[in-house]
Amino acid sequence: MPELSNPFSLSGKTILVTGASSGIGKAIAIECAKMGGELIITGRNKERLQETFLALQGTHHTQITADLSNEADLEALIDALPPLDGCVNNAGINRPLLTQFVEKKDVLDVFDINAFAPFLLAQKLVQHKKLKKKASIVFTSSISGVFCSSVGGSLYSASKGAVNGYVKGLSLDLANRGIRVNCVNPGVIQTNLFSEGTITQEQLDEEIKRYPLKRFGKPEEVAYAVIYLLSDATEWMTGSNLVIDGGFTLL
Ligand SMILES: NC(=O)c1ccc[n+]([C@@H]2O[C@H](COP(=O)([O-])OP(=O)(O)OC[C@H]3O[C@@H](n4cnc5c(N)ncnc54)[C@H](OP(=O)(O)O)[C@@H]3O)[C@@H](O)[C@H]2O)c1
Repeated sequence: MPELSNPFSLSGKTILVTGASSGIGKAIAIECAKMGGELIITGRNKERLQETFLALQGTHHTQITADLSNEADLEALIDALPPLDGCVNNAGINRPLLTQFVEKKDVLDVFDINAFAPFLLAQKLVQHKKLKKKASIVFTSSISGVFCSSVGGSLYSASKGAVNGYVKGLSLDLANRGIRVNCVNPGVIQTNLFSEGTITQEQLDEEIKRYPLKRFGKPEEVAYAVIYLLSDATEWMTGSNLVIDGGFTLL
């Protein structure tokens, strides 16, 4: 019997995932490996990156520790990369702060990793010819800054809004090479980002009520959308936002 082709397969594709030592990036790496991808994973924390590495199905995966807000680390990462079929710009931080408490350092810290690092990474991948023809770049943006925001969320929203603008311009710049650029825009996903001391359990319980599907998302649910955008199934999609938010932005 002839083998059925699967348009969502990542078999034979080499894919870089940033922020793979935790949360959404970890799930993206694990699920991409299950779909046949060969992963290059990166993060700052060596131990947690190793945990992700050990959880990857299959062989031929690589792990590279790097602080992407550090230009030397970024250069070293680029040098170590083979030509890529996919790049998932996922690393990010949240620093909820009311406007009156925001200092310039906060602005720079948030923008360094949420915006400048992925912009520079994409730019360097192009300059160093590390993207194959028909490669797919995916950014983990957010619904925040694109469709809504939150009290104390101005910095985070601004950085994610910048990502969305960048994705539109970059997708036009790279279209003539057949390279696609898209984002996923998650609502609240249960990871360290939204649970580490920045929000109380009462606030989380209140927040859940605002979701029509009555729960927060799971990291895997973002990963499945990323697989879709990395796969050949979306060869005619570029410059898009894929909203994964349990209906939050409908209300
Ligand atoms: N969770 C949500 O509700 C949600 C919603 C919408 C969008 N997002 C976006 O999803 C992405 C992943 O978030 P998450 O929820 O999975 O958070 P997370 O569990 O805190 O993971 C963040 C990841 O980013 C990496 N990272 C942070 N700063 C870095 C730096 N300077 N250099 C290199 N890597 C760095 C971390 O690496 P180390 O831990 O090794 O330092 C970690 O792997 C972020 O872009 C976030 O904005 C999250």
